Amino acid sequence: MSYNSNAEWNREYDQRQQMAFPSEYLVRIFKGTYPHLDLDKISYKSKKLCDVGCGDGRNLVLFNQLGFELYGTELTHEIVTKSTANLNSKGIAADVRVGKNDHLPFDDAFFDYAISWNVCYYMGNSFEFEKHVRELQRVLKKGGYLILSIPKKTSFIYSDSEDIKSGYKLIKNDFFKVRNGEILKIFEDEKDIEKAFSPYFGDFVFGSIHDNCFGLNYHWHLVVCKKR
Ligand SMILES: C[S@@+](CC[C@H](N)C(=O)[O-])C[C@H]1O[C@@H](n2cnc3c(N)ncnc32)[C@H](O)[C@@H]1O
Repeated sequence: MSYNSNAEWNREYDQRQQMAFPSEYLVRIFKGTYPHLDLDKISYKSKKLCDVGCGDGRNLVLFNQLGFELYGTELTHEIVTKSTANLNSKGIAADVRVGKNDHLPFDDAFFDYAISWNVCYYMGNSFEFEKHVRELQRVLKKGGYLILSIPKKTSFIYSDSEDIKSGYKLIKNDFFKVRNGEILKIFEDEKDIEKAFSPYFGDFVFGSIHDNCFGLNYHWHLVVCKKR
């Protein structure tokens, strides 16, 4: 049977009893002080932020604490309902809508920040990553921040995957058993990421996670850039 990402992710979130904690690396990006990262921490209040593919809403809890006005997208009505309910149960209001990487249901130049935390490389059935880049820039204001987390090519996500086309992998052995059959965009390195986003984005800074997390190669690129 062919892969149905909506059904797989519905099943994944349906079986989760509790909301996960926010990503520690987003805490670092937004609250930490680092040589190459210069986010103006005073300016978060009331800025519009979109968490694309927000999942159970875990990172929106952090963004709420930082003072952002919250928006998000997810693949299906079921996941949107669940993440909204998770947030409401904590007294947090967020406008979460059904949307995909190639279609974000928001006006042009609406956001100050767009987050794509382990999401922008999910292709569905397409091989047009440029559409994802264009859509992220469309909804951002000029000078708005784009913050990404993307697996390195050595990440566990790609183990036993198949080269289906240059720059794209068919996932075949997902440890978490959600992505088997999904097409993911894969990047060679930071330069390759910068090349893909640079038609619309500049001021790139990169971080890197290279952990052996109890047997999982947790290898990730962290990217902060700004819409030109
Ligand atoms: C690895 S999870 C990350 C979720 C969330 N950002 C987090 O950090 O917890 C990937 C998410 O991307 C969503 N997703 C899958 N395919 C997508 C697509 N084509 N466009 C947008 N989101 C997608 C899934 O529903 C899932 O919630």
